[in-house]
Amino acid sequence: MSQVRHILSASQFNRAFLDRMYRLTNKIRQFDKSKEGLHYLQSLLPHKRAMLYFTQPSTRTFLSFQSACHILGMKNSEIRDAATSSERKGESIEDSLRTFSSYVDLIIMRSPVRGLCDKMAQLLDQTDRPIPIINAGSGPDEHPTQALLDVYTLERSFKDSGGIDGKTICMVGDLKRGRTVRSLSRLLTLYKNVRLVFASPSEFKIENDLRLFLKSAGVEFLETADFRDSLALSDAIYMTRIQDEYDLAAGESGKVDSSEFYLRAEHLKIMKSSAVIMHPLPRRNELDPAIDNDPRAKYWRQERNGMWTRVALMTTLLGVDEKILLPEL
Ligand code: CP
Repeated sequence: MSQVRHILSASQFNRAFLDRMYRLTNKIRQFDKSKEGLHYLQSLLPHKRAMLYFTQPSTRTFLSFQSACHILGMKNSEIRDAATSSERKGESIEDSLRTFSSYVDLIIMRSPVRGLCDKMAQLLDQTDRPIPIINAGSGPDEHPTQALLDVYTLERSFKDSGGIDGKTICMVGDLKRGRTVRSLSRLLTLYKNVRLVFASPSEFKIENDLRLFLKSAGVEFLETADFRDSLALSDAIYMTRIQDEYDLAAGESGKVDSSEFYLRAEHLKIMKSSAVIMHPLPRRNELDPAIDNDPRAKYWRQERNGMWTRVALMTTLLGVDEKILLPEL
């Protein structure tokens, strides 16, 4: 799997890669159970350095990648605001990225600009320091590592009921600008007989490019405004917040009443007893904290899974994944 150069889009993965990531992540979690196992993980990449370049707000993606670096013994540098870098003095993003590549072995970047990670990866590939780039969120476009941790969480939640294959998964909220939904939907096309339900206000329906992608992949999907019916028929509910940071005019999203699509404690009784509730977080009002202690709520586990999945991904990119898969514990 070391042939993977960059992580830019959920479209670049296949089922074999996802199944391998699942095994790898489970193995990493086993290593985490003992001091010896953790020391072993820390011995894998102490000679590597990563740059965390996040010019859009983040809590869990930033911290889980940083923690993943620490777990693998890697050092990391960070820029969290372009205003504190020489971009403030007029340096181009191209020159900034090339500069990072002079100092580190891997760039993990979050940007509000759609497609920027792809452009930067192409640029670095033409230099004498063609280091890997991981897309940690690119505008409203893609969040491929979130999708990897989401399928890991789904697969693990359904491990005693046949995995993700054959399941009905409902995504709720701002499906137009929610990059996690876009990336996760793409990954779910790699599973057999999955049915997708997209429940949203009409203003926040999925974009046409995703609709066409799902059609060409032959995936059955339904777009609906009937949230209650969607809850009753789904094996997983994937809640998302309204992405008002992408409003074209101030207050635009606030004019849409999204409250019909809030998951409240009263809804628990109409959901399947085996259903799982997920959310990429952060949340606002769309997910009632009263649900947090229901056994079906998986979102806190989901964010912790993000750290393990990102450990697995970095070992794969940097070519030490076999050192995790092969040893007996
Ligand atoms: N899920 C996610 O991307 O969260 P952050 O914005 O906190 O990183």
